[in-house]
Amino acid sequence: MLEHSLTVRSHAADAPQEVWVFGYGSIIWRPDFEFVEQRVGFVRGWKRRFYQGSTDHRGVPGRPGRVVTLLPEAETHCWGVAFRLNGDEAQKVLDALDQREQGGYERYWEPFQCRDGRVVQVLVYVAATDNPHYLGPAALPVMARQIVNAHGESGPNTEYLLRLAESLRHMNLHDDHVFDLERAVQNLLPQNRHGNVA
Ligand code: BEZ
Repeated sequence: MLEHSLTVRSHAADAPQEVWVFGYGSIIWRPDFEFVEQRVGFVRGWKRRFYQGSTDHRGVPGRPGRVVTLLPEAETHCWGVAFRLNGDEAQKVLDALDQREQGGYERYWEPFQCRDGRVVQVLVYVAATDNPHYLGPAALPVMARQIVNAHGESGPNTEYLLRLAESLRHMNLHDDHVFDLERAVQNLLPQNRHGNVA
């Protein structure tokens, strides 16, 4: 059984032996950990939103970037990619993910409906709304400007958004929130060539 340092809402006895991690953000296009297989599918009851602030990877303090988190919502689902970890390496990968996400994420076991019909239990990372970096909703043009103006140690915030949108499209997946934001950001990019967008 894996020992998790972060909150895992299911009982330890329910935790599955196979460890799958749900990718719904940068992990979709840059997993940067070893995995044995990956499957496209969705988790029910969650929606993806660019509401989590990033003051390290995609922004800096005072000018945070926006990255995705999940918000609970009945009657919806979030598409992404489940990665099955190598059993021997799983704890190391989870520790590295905790490190990468600065411990600001809670974890839940959720059923993941694969596109091929199979159901597996996945570990879902959620940046809760009471974490210190949470930015929450804003008008689309406001979020787009924040993203265009934010850069962090992993690169520009635009890369995070545009690569996520491109990856979803590549897998024939749709997400209105991501694609609306992508369009809003792309509309700003030419104006942004000579400095920050006001
Ligand atoms: C992501 O897909 O971006 C992600 C997945 C797990 C933990 C943190 C981020």
